[in-house]
Amino acid sequence: MFRKSKSLIGLDIGSHTAKAVELTTSGGETYVTATATVELPPGEERNEVLANMIRSSDFHTRRVATAVSGKSVIVRYLSMPRMTDEELPRALEFEADKYIPFDMSDVVKDCQRLGGPGDMSLDGVEEDKMRVLLVAAKRNVVDDAVKVVQDVGLQPSVIDVDAFALGNAYEFGLQSGADPAEETAGVVALVDIGARKTSINILQGDQSLFTREIYMGGNDISQAVSKRLGMRLEDAEEFKKNPGESEAELEEALAQTFEDLGGEVLLSFDYFENQFESRVEEVFLSGGSARMPILAPSFERIFNRRTTVWDPLGSLSLKLADTNPEVLAELSSQMAVALGLASRIQKER
Ligand SMILES: Nc1ncnc2c1ncn2[C@@H]1O[C@H](COP(=O)(O)OP(=O)(O)OP(=O)(O)O)[C@@H](O)[C@H]1O
Ligand SMILES: [Mg+2]
Repeated sequence: MFRKSKSLIGLDIGSHTAKAVELTTSGGETYVTATATVELPPGEERNEVLANMIRSSDFHTRRVATAVSGKSVIVRYLSMPRMTDEELPRALEFEADKYIPFDMSDVVKDCQRLGGPGDMSLDGVEEDKMRVLLVAAKRNVVDDAVKVVQDVGLQPSVIDVDAFALGNAYEFGLQSGADPAEETAGVVALVDIGARKTSINILQGDQSLFTREIYMGGNDISQAVSKRLGMRLEDAEEFKKNPGESEAELEEALAQTFEDLGGEVLLSFDYFENQFESRVEEVFLSGGSARMPILAPSFERIFNRRTTVWDPLGSLSLKLADTNPEVLAELSSQMAVALGLASRIQKER
């Protein structure tokens, strides 16, 4: 019998590295059918390097889900009077400018009612109120994201936000029966440490309750190494990835930076825990910077709760043309956002 298959590429164009994961749904199952990564140079060459990555990958589709992030993207969790999904966008027309610090004519926005039965996000919300997620992004940021995708010969189909994609990758793992946490009902924090920023998404089961971006990451790590150990920045970038026998020296040089970044993340946990009267039980780290073996143990000490590097691809079904499992396992944590973007394929019915 003829069976239709469908594919979607999740393309996460970070400030340092582009990551792509293609998912294909066929016969009711979803497989990882291609992955790609490339480090992006600054400036003009960026698109060229990205286009090369796309050309040399074995994607089965041109359709792409990509993301925007940063200070031009606003995420707010609001409490609003109960109303129908049809009434919501209109009500927000009047409300949104209270929460969005940009000129409303330069903004693209989207909203969604939150929470279902048993969802903790409804605890403490009055009977006649509901929780609403409001996302707004400067129009030029969204337009740029669309243009980059088109310029490299692909077709934009979804524009998401990094922190939500992170949550979607986790949810996808749960649905695939690959539960990274033993206790699915518990509260977990996903913390993605990239180059410029760290994205946080705190979830209960598969419901996202809190997101935040902190503008610190791998660039600050390289800078600290360069400053403390008197190295050129390029050498520091290399040394942090391959310290060889000097791991202790690296750890000492980074103690303060880890304290600073870890401390900021911990402030978010505190905020969440006060608001929801519930404890973040476990932390899953992702992003390129989480690939540093010394990072997770240091953060575990700072957070004082179980903290591990997340391997979001590890438990999925793979149908890749040529894979080196070791290389993929190495890269997996860096692919979390790209996987979450691609996982939108499940919502396309
Ligand atoms: N093996 C490694 N050890 C330490 N750091 C690493 C390693 N591999 C990559 N990195 C660092 O990870 C960062 C890139 O990670 P990632 O791809 O998650 O960031 P990005 O998505 O490009 O950045 P952002 O999300 O901040 O825009 C860089 O700072 C890089 O130096
Ligand atoms: Mg990133």
